[in-house]
Amino acid sequence: MLKNIAVLVSGGGTNLQALIDAQDSGVIHSGRLTCVIASNADAYALTRAKNHGIPTYVARRKDYKSLEEYDNALCDILDENHIDLVVMAGFLTITGPAFVRRYDHKIINIHPSLIPAFCGQGFYGLKVHEAALNYGVKVSGATVHFVNEVADGGEIILQKTVDVREDDTPETLQKRIMQECEWHILPEAAELFCAGALTVSGRRVLIKK
Ligand code: GRF
Repeated sequence: MLKNIAVLVSGGGTNLQALIDAQDSGVIHSGRLTCVIASNADAYALTRAKNHGIPTYVARRKDYKSLEEYDNALCDILDENHIDLVVMAGFLTITGPAFVRRYDHKIINIHPSLIPAFCGQGFYGLKVHEAALNYGVKVSGATVHFVNEVADGGEIILQKTVDVREDDTPETLQKRIMQECEWHILPEAAELFCAGALTVSGRRVLIKK
């Protein structure tokens, strides 16, 4: 049985596009993209989903009185679509403990650094790459991890690295990490999850080959 995948987005949706392309090419074959939920109505990711015939939803935090109500609204959409895996692909809105508990170890996120470096509260977008360059690291990359109640704190599923170049700017590093890391390990992790190949053992995620 194919697993149902929901993708949560807030912006351009290049990671969503990588997931769509991976489904088309067969890299993702144990699950299917069932719906896309955006935290804002003008996210270009919504257009990408519509172009591909994937049902879309908009759930804006400001339309709900409390975090709990927002969590419930997200859960309602996910339940309605019988979702097995939630992929956060550039989803910038904070969700609460109710959502994370309801979908415990069924939510994965992509972060554009090698966790535990340059992650957690305040590390998003170009800020991550500025921090990496300011620190002077020689390698950086991306991490796919399970989502728990701590920002970027869940168990690590996959990581991929790139070398930092002496002439890198936050923008060039961001672009290279997206192209060479994020767009590969996010679909790969989604397929591994859907194929039932991931087992969590303490902090470690074991991958069945
Ligand atoms: C990516 O860099 C991702 O790592 C971060 O937000 C960005 C999303 O880009 N969390 P896109 O919307 O997938 O193009």
